[in-house]
Amino acid sequence: MQRDGACVSIWQASASDYQPQSSFIPMGVQDVVIVGGGITGITTGLLLQQAGKRCVVVEAHSIGFGTTGGTTAHLNTFMDASYAQLIKNFSLEDARLIAKGARQSIELIRRHIEQFSIACKYKELPGFLFSTNDQETKELEEIVNASKKVGVPVDFVNDGVLPIPYQKLAVFEQQAQFHPMVYLQGIARAFEAAGGVLLQDCRMLHAEDNETVEVITTKGNIKCRQLIYATHIPPGVNLLHFRCAPYRSYALAVKLKNDAYPDALAYDMQDPYHYYRTQEVDGERYLIVGGEDHKTGHEENTEACFRRLESHVRNYFEVQEISYRWSSQYFDPTDGLPYIGHLPGHPENIYVATGFGGNGMIYGTLSAILLRDLLVQGKSELEELLDPNRIKPVAGFANFVKEAADVVGKLVGGLFPKEKLPMLADLATGEARIVEFDGKKMGIYKDDRGGVHAIDPGCTHIKCTVQWNNAERSWDCPCHGSRFSFTGEVLTGPARKNLAVYDVQTGKTVTRTH
Ligand code: FES
Repeated sequence: MQRDGACVSIWQASASDYQPQSSFIPMGVQDVVIVGGGITGITTGLLLQQAGKRCVVVEAHSIGFGTTGGTTAHLNTFMDASYAQLIKNFSLEDARLIAKGARQSIELIRRHIEQFSIACKYKELPGFLFSTNDQETKELEEIVNASKKVGVPVDFVNDGVLPIPYQKLAVFEQQAQFHPMVYLQGIARAFEAAGGVLLQDCRMLHAEDNETVEVITTKGNIKCRQLIYATHIPPGVNLLHFRCAPYRSYALAVKLKNDAYPDALAYDMQDPYHYYRTQEVDGERYLIVGGEDHKTGHEENTEACFRRLESHVRNYFEVQEISYRWSSQYFDPTDGLPYIGHLPGHPENIYVATGFGGNGMIYGTLSAILLRDLLVQGKSELEELLDPNRIKPVAGFANFVKEAADVVGKLVGGLFPKEKLPMLADLATGEARIVEFDGKKMGIYKDDRGGVHAIDPGCTHIKCTVQWNNAERSWDCPCHGSRFSFTGEVLTGPARKNLAVYDVQTGKTVTRTH
């Protein structure tokens, strides 16, 4: 299977391509079109189809191409934004609703696995959270107290599972893990068996809102009553792009020399934090470690992130081999909670789910529950709390907006000195840079065979300058997280259009069909 980067995740290496039953646009007006074939889109399609709606899921590549194929698949009842933070930013009742939603999401995943016999190695395990200094210990105590208040089972313990020194250790009961791609393919089959239509390699180009919505795709037009963007972040220009910040996280799947694989999930409290778990694939066990998160497009050498993560792992574990390494993207919401419901600035029948932070498996599943309730019953108990139109001016909001603005100013001026294309002979294979040629900015990349590819680095979303990601070999936009291949194709939105491409011989723009 394919993913949105050059690095291969452990899930990609152990999952085959998904073959949908149909590749044709269905006739007539559909009830719901869902754009995006990750855990959010497919779970939403399945729940709505089971509730009697006629649904079509359209995916621009293949299912799991985005972050579902690059997650580390922790299923937690505690979230990146802690319950202490949620009680402060929202209320105790609201934090309880999130705790309940997280538990419901894990239950739904477990039910699907049983009901559809999905062999995705689902396993319930304790989750350890540990502090390493006084400041972290204070924070950990607040997290534990707040978690208890919202009904999440947690307590302090003395014995951990990792060979990493800690000051204080808490354990959350009944966390879980699974193989996300095997699960995704299992629920995709269930969706199709229930009568849903799944179209891969079908890119949505735009939607026209009339009496019914007309969804224009590369495979043809689909008419529907309701449209859901399950694309991780909605395409086009929207308020939500200013309320969600794109981040990248790095992961390694490691074979150990001894057998010290932890039978638990574990997390430190550093900033950014590290996360650990064990996964068995084809009879082999791997330690999966993640961390080194940074804002997308803000790290000049993304290879260095892998090196730092590797050195962290080697510090504490007897590493035999680094078997897989990959990175993936997530969107952090300003106030700590995702945005699920009506898409701001659009008619009532257009919906969105975004801003999951590092809890994509849980919030993706919770989005499906919320959207099913909204579309079928007309209401959900989470509707108001997670309303994408909410205005929640929490601490840090002003900085968040300012930071986004600074990014633009900083990068537009950040060009390499004026150079001529012939001088790019000194570009190493696998290397890229932004240059100026005849008054034009160009992003130049030399592939492994020495072929040179030139793109216009002006992001097609709202024209920030893209930045080269040398680990995933992609052009990443620091403003709202759009990502493009080295040939300029959109890998992840919100951009809808590919980057303009230049002919390296003439410096002239090459015309594209999309
Ligand atoms: Fe918004 Fe690039 S993603 S300008």
